[in-house]
Amino acid sequence: CMVRHYKFNVVMKNTTRLCSTKPIVTVNGRYPGPTLVAREDDTILVKVVNHVKYNLSIHWHGIRQIRTGWADGPAYITQCPIQPGQNYVYNFTLTGQRGTLWYHAHILWLRATVHGAIVILPKRDVPYPFPKPHKEEIVVLGEWWKSDVEAVINEALKSGLAPNVSDAHTINGYTLPVKPGKTYMLRIINAALNEELFFKIAGHQLTVVEVDATYVKPFKTDTIVIAPGQTTNVLVTTHRGGGKYMVAASTFMDAPIAVDNVTATATLHYSGSLTSAATTLTSTPPKNATSVATNFISSLRSLNSKQYPANVPLKIDHSLLFTVGLGVNPCPTCVNGSRVVASINNVTFVMPKISLIQAHFFNISGVFTSDFPGNPPAPFNYTSTQVTNFATKQGTRLYRLAYNNTVQLVLQDTGMITPENHPLHLHGFNFFEVGRGLGNFNPKKDPKKFNLVDPVERNTIGVPSGGWTAIRFRADNPGVWFMHCHLEVHTTWGLKMAFVVDNGKGPNESLLPPPSDFPKC
Ligand code: C2O
Repeated sequence: CMVRHYKFNVVMKNTTRLCSTKPIVTVNGRYPGPTLVAREDDTILVKVVNHVKYNLSIHWHGIRQIRTGWADGPAYITQCPIQPGQNYVYNFTLTGQRGTLWYHAHILWLRATVHGAIVILPKRDVPYPFPKPHKEEIVVLGEWWKSDVEAVINEALKSGLAPNVSDAHTINGYTLPVKPGKTYMLRIINAALNEELFFKIAGHQLTVVEVDATYVKPFKTDTIVIAPGQTTNVLVTTHRGGGKYMVAASTFMDAPIAVDNVTATATLHYSGSLTSAATTLTSTPPKNATSVATNFISSLRSLNSKQYPANVPLKIDHSLLFTVGLGVNPCPTCVNGSRVVASINNVTFVMPKISLIQAHFFNISGVFTSDFPGNPPAPFNYTSTQVTNFATKQGTRLYRLAYNNTVQLVLQDTGMITPENHPLHLHGFNFFEVGRGLGNFNPKKDPKKFNLVDPVERNTIGVPSGGWTAIRFRADNPGVWFMHCHLEVHTTWGLKMAFVVDNGKGPNESLLPPPSDFPKC
Protein backbone atom coordinates (compact mmCIF):
# COMPACT_ATOMS: atom_id res chain seq x y z
CA CYS A 1 0.00 0.00 0.00
CA MET A 2 1.06 3.52 -0.67
CA VAL A 3 1.09 6.73 1.29
CA ARG A 4 -0.23 9.56 -0.84
CA HIS A 5 0.31 13.23 -0.06
CA TYR A 6 -1.97 16.02 -1.18
CA LYS A 7 -1.98 19.73 -0.48
CA PHE A 8 -5.22 21.70 -0.42
CA ASN A 9 -4.75 25.45 -0.49
CA VAL A 10 -8.16 26.84 0.31
CA VAL A 11 -8.30 30.16 -1.51
CA MET A 12 -10.80 32.65 -2.92
CA LYS A 13 -11.08 32.49 -6.69
CA ASN A 14 -13.17 34.44 -9.19
CA THR A 15 -15.44 31.92 -10.87
CA THR A 16 -17.99 32.38 -13.64
CA ARG A 17 -21.34 30.59 -13.81
CA LEU A 18 -24.70 31.77 -15.23
CA CYS A 19 -22.83 34.52 -17.10
CA SER A 20 -21.63 36.27 -13.98
CA THR A 21 -18.39 36.15 -12.03
CA LYS A 22 -17.99 36.19 -8.27
CA PRO A 23 -15.25 35.23 -5.82
CA ILE A 24 -15.90 31.82 -4.23
CA VAL A 25 -14.04 29.66 -1.71
CA THR A 26 -12.18 26.89 -3.57
CA VAL A 27 -9.60 24.16 -3.16
CA ASN A 28 -6.48 25.14 -5.15
CA GLY A 29 -8.55 27.65 -7.14
CA ARG A 30 -10.73 24.96 -8.67
CA TYR A 31 -14.48 24.35 -8.68
CA PRO A 32 -15.19 21.48 -8.30
CA GLY A 33 -11.94 20.86 -6.44
CA PRO A 34 -9.16 18.45 -7.46
CA THR A 35 -9.84 14.71 -7.44
CA LEU A 36 -8.10 12.51 -4.86
CA VAL A 37 -7.04 9.23 -6.44
CA ALA A 38 -5.87 6.29 -4.36
CA ARG A 39 -6.20 2.54 -4.00
CA GLU A 40 -7.94 0.44 -1.40
CA ASP A 41 -5.89 0.28 1.82
CA ASP A 42 -3.69 3.27 0.88
CA THR A 43 -2.99 5.96 3.44
CA ILE A 44 -3.81 9.55 2.50
CA LEU A 45 -2.36 12.69 4.01
CA VAL A 46 -4.02 15.93 2.98
CA LYS A 47 -2.48 19.13 4.25
CA VAL A 48 -5.25 21.72 4.29
CA VAL A 49 -4.06 25.34 4.46
CA ASN A 50 -6.73 27.92 5.21
CA HIS A 51 -6.08 31.12 3.22
CA VAL A 52 -9.64 32.49 3.51
CA LYS A 53 -11.39 34.58 6.15
CA TYR A 54 -13.74 31.78 7.23
CA ASN A 55 -13.16 29.00 9.74
CA LEU A 56 -12.79 25.76 7.83
CA SER A 57 -12.94 21.98 8.09
CA ILE A 58 -13.09 19.25 5.46
CA HIS A 59 -14.98 15.96 5.63
CA TRP A 60 -14.10 12.85 3.62
CA HIS A 61 -17.65 11.72 3.00
CA GLY A 62 -18.05 7.95 3.26
CA ILE A 63 -14.50 7.19 4.35
CA ARG A 64 -14.87 5.13 7.46
CA GLN A 65 -11.96 6.65 9.40
CA ILE A 66 -11.48 3.51 11.43
CA ARG A 67 -10.01 4.66 14.77
CA THR A 68 -9.08 8.03 13.19
CA GLY A 69 -12.20 10.06 13.98
CA TRP A 70 -9.92 13.11 14.43
CA ALA A 71 -9.62 13.22 10.64
CA ASP A 72 -13.35 12.94 9.88
CA GLY A 73 -13.94 16.67 9.55
CA PRO A 74 -17.33 17.93 10.83
CA ALA A 75 -16.63 21.14 12.75
CA TYR A 76 -17.29 20.93 16.50
CA ILE A 77 -18.06 17.21 16.21
CA THR A 78 -14.65 15.70 15.47
CA GLN A 79 -12.47 18.79 15.34
CA CYS A 80 -12.25 22.45 16.07
CA PRO A 81 -12.19 24.45 12.84
CA ILE A 82 -8.96 25.29 11.03
CA GLN A 83 -8.81 29.03 11.63
CA PRO A 84 -7.73 31.56 8.98
CA GLY A 85 -3.99 31.28 8.43
CA GLN A 86 -3.81 27.84 10.09
CA ASN A 87 -3.39 24.36 8.65
CA TYR A 88 -4.13 20.75 9.56
CA VAL A 89 -3.05 17.43 8.05
CA TYR A 90 -5.91 14.95 7.64
CA ASN A 91 -4.28 11.52 7.92
CA PHE A 92 -6.35 8.41 7.27
CA THR A 93 -6.29 4.95 5.73
CA LEU A 94 -8.80 3.59 3.21
CA THR A 95 -9.22 0.27 4.99
CA GLY A 96 -11.29 -2.15 2.93
CA GLN A 97 -12.91 0.57 0.84
CA ARG A 98 -12.97 1.13 -2.89
CA GLY A 99 -15.27 3.12 -5.16
CA THR A 100 -16.40 6.70 -5.58
CA LEU A 101 -16.67 8.97 -2.58
CA TRP A 102 -16.15 12.69 -2.19
CA TYR A 103 -14.91 15.40 0.14
CA HIS A 104 -16.53 18.64 1.15
CA ALA A 105 -16.18 21.47 3.63
CA HIS A 106 -18.13 20.65 6.80
CA ILE A 107 -18.79 24.03 8.38
CA LEU A 108 -21.41 26.68 7.62
CA TRP A 109 -22.41 26.42 3.94
CA LEU A 110 -18.88 26.37 2.56
CA ARG A 111 -19.46 22.98 0.97
CA ALA A 112 -21.45 24.76 -1.76
CA THR A 113 -18.13 25.38 -3.52
CA VAL A 114 -15.55 23.42 -1.51
CA HIS A 115 -15.97 19.86 -2.75
CA GLY A 116 -14.44 17.27 -5.06
CA ALA A 117 -14.27 13.60 -5.93
CA ILE A 118 -12.40 10.79 -4.19
CA VAL A 119 -11.68 7.83 -6.47
CA ILE A 120 -10.53 4.70 -4.67
CA LEU A 121 -9.41 2.05 -7.13
CA PRO A 122 -9.43 -1.61 -6.14
CA LYS A 123 -6.14 -3.10 -4.99
CA ARG A 124 -3.63 -3.70 -7.76
CA ASP A 125 -4.59 -6.77 -9.82
CA VAL A 126 -8.09 -6.91 -8.35
CA PRO A 127 -10.58 -6.33 -11.20
CA TYR A 128 -13.97 -4.64 -10.92
CA PRO A 129 -16.78 -7.19 -10.59
CA PHE A 130 -18.03 -6.00 -14.02
CA PRO A 131 -16.31 -5.58 -17.41
CA LYS A 132 -13.53 -3.04 -17.30
CA PRO A 133 -14.75 0.25 -18.79
CA HIS A 134 -12.89 1.84 -21.68
CA LYS A 135 -12.69 5.08 -19.71
CA GLU A 136 -13.96 6.63 -16.48
CA GLU A 137 -15.36 10.13 -16.01
CA ILE A 138 -16.33 12.07 -12.91
CA VAL A 139 -19.66 13.91 -12.91
CA VAL A 140 -20.14 16.30 -10.01
CA LEU A 141 -23.65 17.70 -9.67
CA GLY A 142 -23.75 20.97 -7.80
CA GLU A 143 -25.97 23.93 -7.03
CA TRP A 144 -25.25 27.59 -7.71
CA TRP A 145 -26.52 30.82 -6.18
CA LYS A 146 -26.04 34.12 -7.95
CA SER A 147 -25.67 35.82 -4.59
CA ASP A 148 -23.16 34.95 -1.88
CA VAL A 149 -24.07 31.59 -0.32
CA GLU A 150 -23.12 32.62 3.21
CA ALA A 151 -25.37 35.67 2.88
CA VAL A 152 -28.25 33.40 1.79
CA ILE A 153 -28.10 31.28 4.94
CA ASN A 154 -27.33 34.14 7.33
CA GLU A 155 -30.36 36.00 6.04
CA ALA A 156 -32.54 32.90 6.55
CA LEU A 157 -31.29 32.37 10.09
CA LYS A 158 -32.04 35.97 10.99
CA SER A 159 -35.55 35.87 9.54
CA GLY A 160 -36.43 32.40 10.85
CA LEU A 161 -37.75 31.50 7.40
CA ALA A 162 -36.52 29.15 4.69
CA PRO A 163 -33.55 30.35 2.62
CA ASN A 164 -33.80 31.26 -1.05
CA VAL A 165 -33.52 28.29 -3.38
CA SER A 166 -30.50 28.15 -5.64
CA ASP A 167 -30.53 29.75 -9.08
CA ALA A 168 -29.24 26.70 -10.96
CA HIS A 169 -27.81 23.22 -10.83
CA THR A 170 -24.39 22.62 -12.28
CA ILE A 171 -22.77 19.68 -14.01
CA ASN A 172 -19.03 19.97 -14.22
CA GLY A 173 -17.43 19.67 -17.61
CA TYR A 174 -20.51 20.35 -19.76
CA THR A 175 -19.21 17.98 -22.42
CA LEU A 176 -18.38 14.29 -22.06
CA PRO A 177 -16.40 13.30 -25.14
CA VAL A 178 -16.97 9.66 -26.15
CA LYS A 179 -16.14 7.26 -28.96
CA PRO A 180 -18.75 4.93 -30.43
CA GLY A 181 -18.95 1.27 -29.46
CA LYS A 182 -17.32 1.55 -26.03
CA THR A 183 -18.38 1.33 -22.39
CA TYR A 184 -17.75 4.27 -20.09
CA MET A 185 -18.10 4.44 -16.34
CA LEU A 186 -19.50 7.64 -14.90
CA ARG A 187 -18.76 8.32 -11.25
CA ILE A 188 -21.69 10.58 -10.34
CA ILE A 189 -21.65 12.65 -7.16
CA ASN A 190 -24.51 14.76 -5.83
CA ALA A 191 -22.74 17.70 -4.21
CA ALA A 192 -25.83 19.94 -4.23
CA LEU A 193 -26.65 21.59 -0.93
CA ASN A 194 -30.36 21.08 -0.73
CA GLU A 195 -31.74 19.01 -3.57
CA GLU A 196 -32.17 15.37 -4.48
CA LEU A 197 -31.76 14.92 -8.21
CA PHE A 198 -32.85 12.88 -11.19
CA PHE A 199 -30.10 12.21 -13.74
CA LYS A 200 -30.42 10.80 -17.24
CA ILE A 201 -28.81 10.76 -20.66
CA ALA A 202 -30.84 11.03 -23.86
CA GLY A 203 -30.91 7.82 -25.89
CA HIS A 204 -28.75 5.78 -23.51
CA GLN A 205 -29.51 3.40 -20.70
CA LEU A 206 -27.48 3.49 -17.50
CA THR A 207 -26.26 0.30 -15.82
CA VAL A 208 -25.89 0.94 -12.10
CA VAL A 209 -22.90 -0.95 -10.63
CA GLU A 210 -22.05 0.85 -7.40
CA VAL A 211 -23.55 3.25 -4.88
CA ASP A 212 -21.72 4.99 -2.02
CA ALA A 213 -18.57 2.97 -2.79
CA THR A 214 -20.26 -0.43 -2.43
CA TYR A 215 -20.92 -2.76 -5.34
CA VAL A 216 -24.52 -3.52 -6.29
CA LYS A 217 -26.12 -6.16 -8.48
CA PRO A 218 -25.98 -4.42 -11.87
CA PHE A 219 -29.30 -3.23 -13.28
CA LYS A 220 -30.38 -1.04 -16.17
CA THR A 221 -32.38 2.15 -15.84
CA ASP A 222 -33.19 5.31 -17.82
CA THR A 223 -33.01 7.57 -14.80
CA ILE A 224 -31.09 7.49 -11.55
CA VAL A 225 -32.10 9.22 -8.33
CA ILE A 226 -29.32 10.64 -6.23
CA ALA A 227 -29.58 12.52 -2.95
CA PRO A 228 -27.06 15.05 -1.66
CA GLY A 229 -24.13 13.09 -0.26
CA GLN A 230 -24.73 10.01 -2.38
CA THR A 231 -22.52 8.70 -5.17
CA THR A 232 -23.52 6.37 -8.01
CA ASN A 233 -21.36 4.63 -10.60
CA VAL A 234 -23.04 3.77 -13.88
CA LEU A 235 -21.85 2.14 -17.09
CA VAL A 236 -22.91 3.73 -20.37
CA THR A 237 -22.43 1.92 -23.64
CA THR A 238 -22.03 4.20 -26.63
CA HIS A 239 -24.15 2.08 -28.95
CA ARG A 240 -25.05 4.98 -31.23
CA GLY A 241 -22.95 5.70 -34.30
CA GLY A 242 -22.48 9.33 -33.40
CA GLY A 243 -24.29 12.48 -32.36
CA LYS A 244 -24.79 14.72 -29.38
CA TYR A 245 -27.02 13.59 -26.54
CA MET A 246 -28.31 15.66 -23.69
CA VAL A 247 -27.21 14.81 -20.14
CA ALA A 248 -29.74 16.23 -17.69
CA ALA A 249 -30.15 16.66 -13.96
CA SER A 250 -33.19 18.12 -12.19
CA THR A 251 -34.79 18.18 -8.77
CA PHE A 252 -36.66 15.31 -7.14
CA MET A 253 -38.84 16.59 -4.29
CA ASP A 254 -42.26 15.14 -3.66
CA ALA A 255 -43.23 17.69 -1.04
CA PRO A 256 -45.02 20.99 -1.62
CA ILE A 257 -42.01 23.16 -0.85
CA ALA A 258 -39.95 25.61 -2.86
CA VAL A 259 -37.23 24.01 -4.94
CA ASP A 260 -35.15 25.00 -7.88
CA ASN A 261 -36.94 23.94 -11.06
CA VAL A 262 -34.01 24.39 -13.39
CA THR A 263 -32.65 21.44 -15.35
CA ALA A 264 -28.88 21.38 -15.61
CA THR A 265 -27.62 20.00 -18.88
CA ALA A 266 -24.41 18.71 -20.39
CA THR A 267 -23.64 16.83 -23.59
CA LEU A 268 -22.53 13.31 -24.33
CA HIS A 269 -20.55 14.12 -27.42
CA TYR A 270 -19.52 11.39 -29.89
CA SER A 271 -16.22 12.01 -31.60
CA GLY A 272 -16.70 13.31 -35.11
CA SER A 273 -19.74 15.43 -34.23
CA LEU A 274 -19.16 19.08 -35.02
CA THR A 275 -20.59 21.41 -32.40
CA SER A 276 -21.03 20.68 -28.74
CA ALA A 277 -24.71 21.53 -28.28
CA ALA A 278 -26.86 18.44 -27.78
CA THR A 279 -29.18 17.68 -30.68
CA THR A 280 -30.89 14.66 -29.11
CA LEU A 281 -32.80 16.04 -26.14
CA THR A 282 -34.46 14.38 -23.19
CA SER A 283 -36.52 15.48 -20.25
CA THR A 284 -36.17 14.34 -16.68
CA PRO A 285 -39.20 13.22 -14.66
CA PRO A 286 -41.34 15.94 -13.02
CA LYS A 287 -40.07 16.92 -9.59
CA ASN A 288 -42.78 14.98 -7.73
CA ALA A 289 -42.27 11.70 -9.64
CA THR A 290 -42.22 9.54 -6.51
CA SER A 291 -42.78 6.33 -8.46
CA VAL A 292 -39.61 6.85 -10.50
CA ALA A 293 -37.65 7.30 -7.29
CA THR A 294 -39.29 4.34 -5.58
CA ASN A 295 -38.63 2.05 -8.56
CA PHE A 296 -35.01 3.06 -8.69
CA ILE A 297 -34.40 2.68 -4.96
CA SER A 298 -36.13 -0.69 -4.76
CA SER A 299 -33.87 -2.01 -7.55
CA LEU A 300 -30.75 -1.48 -5.43
CA ARG A 301 -29.29 -4.69 -3.98
CA SER A 302 -25.85 -5.43 -2.58
CA LEU A 303 -23.71 -7.46 -4.94
CA ASN A 304 -23.35 -9.96 -2.08
CA SER A 305 -20.78 -12.12 -3.85
CA LYS A 306 -18.24 -14.38 -2.20
CA GLN A 307 -15.64 -11.66 -2.52
CA TYR A 308 -17.99 -8.84 -1.45
CA PRO A 309 -20.46 -10.36 1.01
CA ALA A 310 -23.24 -8.33 2.62
CA ASN A 311 -22.58 -8.82 6.33
CA VAL A 312 -25.97 -7.69 7.57
CA PRO A 313 -26.19 -7.77 11.40
CA LEU A 314 -28.82 -10.36 12.31
CA LYS A 315 -28.86 -10.08 16.09
CA ILE A 316 -29.70 -6.56 17.23
CA ASP A 317 -28.50 -4.92 20.47
CA HIS A 318 -30.22 -1.55 20.04
CA SER A 319 -33.53 -1.16 18.25
CA LEU A 320 -34.11 2.56 17.73
CA LEU A 321 -36.84 4.67 16.16
CA PHE A 322 -35.87 8.23 15.24
CA THR A 323 -38.36 10.71 13.87
CA VAL A 324 -36.93 13.26 11.48
CA GLY A 325 -38.74 16.43 10.58
CA LEU A 326 -39.24 20.10 10.96
CA GLY A 327 -40.87 22.09 13.74
CA VAL A 328 -41.31 25.69 14.84
CA ASN A 329 -39.76 27.31 17.90
CA PRO A 330 -40.45 30.76 19.36
CA CYS A 331 -38.05 33.46 18.19
CA PRO A 332 -38.82 37.00 19.42
CA THR A 333 -36.36 38.59 16.96
CA CYS A 334 -37.64 36.72 13.88
CA VAL A 335 -40.09 37.96 11.24
CA ASN A 336 -43.08 35.89 12.44
CA GLY A 337 -41.95 35.67 16.06
CA SER A 338 -40.99 32.08 15.37
CA ARG A 339 -38.34 30.22 13.45
CA VAL A 340 -38.21 26.94 11.58
CA VAL A 341 -36.23 24.28 13.42
CA ALA A 342 -35.53 20.66 12.61
CA SER A 343 -35.20 17.76 15.00
CA ILE A 344 -34.63 14.07 15.58
CA ASN A 345 -36.96 12.59 18.21
CA ASN A 346 -37.94 16.16 18.94
CA VAL A 347 -34.41 17.15 19.91
CA THR A 348 -32.94 20.10 18.02
CA PHE A 349 -29.22 19.57 18.19
CA VAL A 350 -27.15 22.41 19.63
CA MET A 351 -23.57 22.64 18.44
CA PRO A 352 -21.02 22.57 21.29
CA LYS A 353 -18.17 25.07 21.75
CA ILE A 354 -15.42 22.45 21.65
CA SER A 355 -15.46 19.29 19.58
CA LEU A 356 -17.39 16.33 20.92
CA ILE A 357 -14.55 13.93 20.18
CA GLN A 358 -12.23 15.92 22.47
CA ALA A 359 -14.84 15.97 25.21
CA HIS A 360 -15.21 12.20 24.80
CA PHE A 361 -11.50 11.33 24.58
CA PHE A 362 -10.34 13.62 27.41
CA ASN A 363 -13.43 13.12 29.57
CA ILE A 364 -14.38 16.78 29.62
CA SER A 365 -17.75 17.13 31.30
CA GLY A 366 -20.45 19.65 30.50
CA VAL A 367 -20.06 19.42 26.70
CA PHE A 368 -22.61 16.72 25.91
CA THR A 369 -24.91 14.24 27.60
CA SER A 370 -25.29 10.57 26.59
CA ASP A 371 -29.07 10.48 26.91
CA PHE A 372 -30.29 10.83 23.33
CA PRO A 373 -33.77 9.25 23.30
CA GLY A 374 -33.97 5.93 21.47
CA ASN A 375 -37.65 6.56 20.71
CA PRO A 376 -39.85 9.60 20.04
CA PRO A 377 -41.35 11.31 23.10
CA ALA A 378 -44.88 9.97 22.62
CA PRO A 379 -46.44 7.80 19.98
CA PHE A 380 -48.43 9.82 17.50
CA ASN A 381 -49.33 9.76 13.85
CA TYR A 382 -46.03 10.84 12.34
CA THR A 383 -47.23 11.38 8.84
CA SER A 384 -50.13 13.69 9.51
CA THR A 385 -49.77 17.40 10.01
CA GLN A 386 -50.51 18.01 13.66
CA VAL A 387 -49.21 20.20 16.41
CA THR A 388 -48.31 17.56 19.01
CA ASN A 389 -44.64 18.06 19.83
CA PHE A 390 -44.49 20.82 17.29
CA ALA A 391 -42.02 22.83 19.36
CA THR A 392 -38.73 21.03 19.91
CA LYS A 393 -36.30 20.74 22.80
CA GLN A 394 -32.71 21.90 22.44
CA GLY A 395 -29.79 19.77 23.49
CA THR A 396 -26.35 18.38 22.75
CA ARG A 397 -27.37 14.81 23.39
CA LEU A 398 -25.56 11.73 22.09
CA TYR A 399 -26.53 8.06 21.90
CA ARG A 400 -23.88 5.79 23.43
CA LEU A 401 -22.94 2.40 21.99
CA ALA A 402 -20.53 -0.21 23.27
CA TYR A 403 -17.90 -1.37 20.81
CA ASN A 404 -19.33 -3.88 18.31
CA ASN A 405 -22.95 -3.38 19.38
CA THR A 406 -25.40 -3.79 16.56
CA VAL A 407 -28.05 -1.21 15.80
CA GLN A 408 -31.33 -1.25 13.95
CA LEU A 409 -32.48 2.28 13.33
CA VAL A 410 -35.83 3.18 11.82
CA LEU A 411 -35.88 6.72 10.44
CA GLN A 412 -39.45 7.96 10.32
CA ASP A 413 -40.34 11.15 8.48
CA THR A 414 -42.71 13.37 10.44
CA GLY A 415 -45.17 15.62 8.73
CA MET A 416 -45.45 18.25 11.40
CA ILE A 417 -45.04 21.07 8.89
CA THR A 418 -45.14 18.98 5.76
CA PRO A 419 -43.84 15.51 4.87
CA GLU A 420 -40.52 15.83 3.11
CA ASN A 421 -37.61 13.76 1.82
CA HIS A 422 -34.59 13.69 4.13
CA PRO A 423 -31.27 12.18 2.99
CA LEU A 424 -29.72 11.01 6.26
CA HIS A 425 -25.95 10.55 6.37
CA LEU A 426 -24.12 8.56 9.03
CA HIS A 427 -20.42 9.24 9.51
CA GLY A 428 -17.93 6.47 10.36
CA PHE A 429 -20.02 3.54 9.09
CA ASN A 430 -21.75 1.98 6.16
CA PHE A 431 -25.20 0.63 6.92
CA PHE A 432 -27.63 -1.71 5.23
CA GLU A 433 -31.08 -0.49 4.24
CA VAL A 434 -33.19 -3.50 5.27
CA GLY A 435 -36.61 -2.00 4.63
CA ARG A 436 -38.59 1.07 3.64
CA GLY A 437 -42.20 2.04 3.32
CA LEU A 438 -44.75 4.81 3.21
CA GLY A 439 -46.87 5.91 6.16
CA ASN A 440 -46.06 5.00 9.74
CA PHE A 441 -43.55 2.26 10.51
CA ASN A 442 -45.34 -0.75 11.99
CA PRO A 443 -43.00 -2.48 14.48
CA LYS A 444 -45.08 -5.69 14.40
CA LYS A 445 -45.60 -6.16 10.68
CA ASP A 446 -42.83 -4.34 8.80
CA PRO A 447 -39.75 -6.17 10.19
CA LYS A 448 -41.17 -9.43 8.81
CA LYS A 449 -40.59 -8.05 5.33
CA PHE A 450 -37.00 -6.90 5.91
CA ASN A 451 -34.35 -7.97 3.42
CA LEU A 452 -31.54 -9.42 5.53
CA VAL A 453 -29.82 -11.17 2.60
CA ASP A 454 -28.69 -8.59 0.06
CA PRO A 455 -29.91 -5.13 1.13
CA VAL A 456 -28.08 -2.18 -0.36
CA GLU A 457 -25.16 -0.90 1.70
CA ARG A 458 -24.54 2.82 1.81
CA ASN A 459 -23.64 5.85 3.91
CA THR A 460 -26.51 8.18 2.95
CA ILE A 461 -30.14 7.14 2.67
CA GLY A 462 -33.21 9.01 1.49
CA VAL A 463 -36.00 8.85 4.07
CA PRO A 464 -39.10 8.97 1.87
CA SER A 465 -41.50 11.84 2.21
CA GLY A 466 -44.22 10.68 4.63
CA GLY A 467 -42.53 7.32 5.12
CA TRP A 468 -39.70 5.49 6.83
CA THR A 469 -36.53 3.55 6.19
CA ALA A 470 -34.85 0.93 8.40
CA ILE A 471 -31.08 0.59 8.52
CA ARG A 472 -28.69 -1.72 10.35
CA PHE A 473 -25.03 -1.28 11.25
CA ARG A 474 -22.37 -2.63 13.56
CA ALA A 475 -20.62 -0.15 15.86
CA ASP A 476 -17.12 -1.42 15.10
CA ASN A 477 -15.52 2.01 14.93
CA PRO A 478 -14.77 3.74 18.25
CA GLY A 479 -15.21 7.52 18.34
CA VAL A 480 -17.90 10.15 17.88
CA TRP A 481 -19.95 9.90 14.71
CA PHE A 482 -22.24 12.55 13.35
CA MET A 483 -25.57 11.68 11.76
CA HIS A 484 -27.52 14.37 9.97
CA CYS A 485 -29.77 15.30 7.10
CA HIS A 486 -27.59 16.07 4.09
CA LEU A 487 -29.94 18.85 3.00
CA GLU A 488 -27.70 21.56 4.36
CA VAL A 489 -30.58 23.79 5.36
CA HIS A 490 -31.99 21.02 7.59
CA THR A 491 -28.59 20.45 9.23
CA THR A 492 -28.43 24.16 9.93
CA TRP A 493 -31.87 23.99 11.54
CA GLY A 494 -30.76 21.15 13.83
CA LEU A 495 -31.60 17.86 12.08
CA LYS A 496 -28.51 16.17 13.46
CA MET A 497 -27.23 14.08 16.36
CA ALA A 498 -24.20 11.93 17.09
CA PHE A 499 -23.37 8.44 18.28
CA VAL A 500 -20.51 7.92 20.70
CA VAL A 501 -18.91 4.49 20.36
CA ASP A 502 -16.76 3.39 23.29
CA ASN A 503 -13.46 1.61 22.93
CA GLY A 504 -13.44 -2.17 22.83
CA LYS A 505 -11.07 -4.28 24.90
CA GLY A 506 -9.05 -5.71 21.99
CA PRO A 507 -5.71 -4.35 20.79
CA ASN A 508 -7.13 -2.57 17.74
CA GLU A 509 -10.43 -1.50 19.19
CA SER A 510 -9.71 1.93 20.61
CA LEU A 511 -9.77 5.43 19.23
CA LEU A 512 -6.20 6.57 18.51
CA PRO A 513 -4.96 9.73 20.24
CA PRO A 514 -5.31 13.08 18.39
CA PRO A 515 -2.55 14.15 16.00
CA SER A 516 -0.15 16.83 17.30
CA ASP A 517 -1.42 19.51 14.88
CA PHE A 518 -5.08 18.98 15.86
CA PRO A 519 -6.75 22.44 15.65
CA LYS A 520 -7.56 24.28 18.87
CA CYS A 521 -10.87 25.98 19.52
CU1 C2O B 1 -21.25 14.71 3.57
CU2 C2O B 1 -21.62 15.21 7.57
O1 C2O B 1 -21.45 15.09 5.54
